[in-house]
Amino acid sequence: MTDSFKLKVNGREQAVSVSPDTPLLYVLMNELALRGPRFGCGLAQCGSCSVLVDGVEVRACVTPVSNVAGKAVTTLEGLPALYAEQKRLPQPPALHPLSQAFVDQQAPQCGYCFNGMTIKAAELLAQNPKPTEAQIRSHMDGHICRCGTYPLILKAIQLASIRMAGDVR
Ligand code: FES
Ligand code: FES
Repeated sequence: MTDSFKLKVNGREQAVSVSPDTPLLYVLMNELALRGPRFGCGLAQCGSCSVLVDGVEVRACVTPVSNVAGKAVTTLEGLPALYAEQKRLPQPPALHPLSQAFVDQQAPQCGYCFNGMTIKAAELLAQNPKPTEAQIRSHMDGHICRCGTYPLILKAIQLASIRMAGDVR
């Protein structure tokens, strides 16, 4: 049975007509043509599909769209604007500082996991701007990189944390 849902995705109101149990990931990819979230395992095991819902990371592959009606969904594409809002910057940066740090550290290999890595790390730094290495490792646990770039991911999150601390208006 198809139903109509109003979603707020990356700050924009969106109306979609889908079955209530349709995974949020399918709606983002197929109805809204967003390419940040990725389909990996489809079982909430890898994190490649992650998005923020009211600032909290969720696995979009197993989240029914009906669960997020009326909530604020942020995908990788919306992170720079969310960051500008959080820091009260006059303009969103071209890249979220985490994305820039991942580039600067040359962390991505195939890049498939980096949607989820960026979303999960953005959740962390919004809650805890200066995490310890142990806190980063603990928070990122459960996000899988099949290319094994974990040491570079860790360094990039630390770099972004330092840069973001200086981005105060
Ligand atoms: S695709 Fe959602 S956790 Fe793997
Ligand atoms: S860079 Fe390939 S899965 Fe992480």
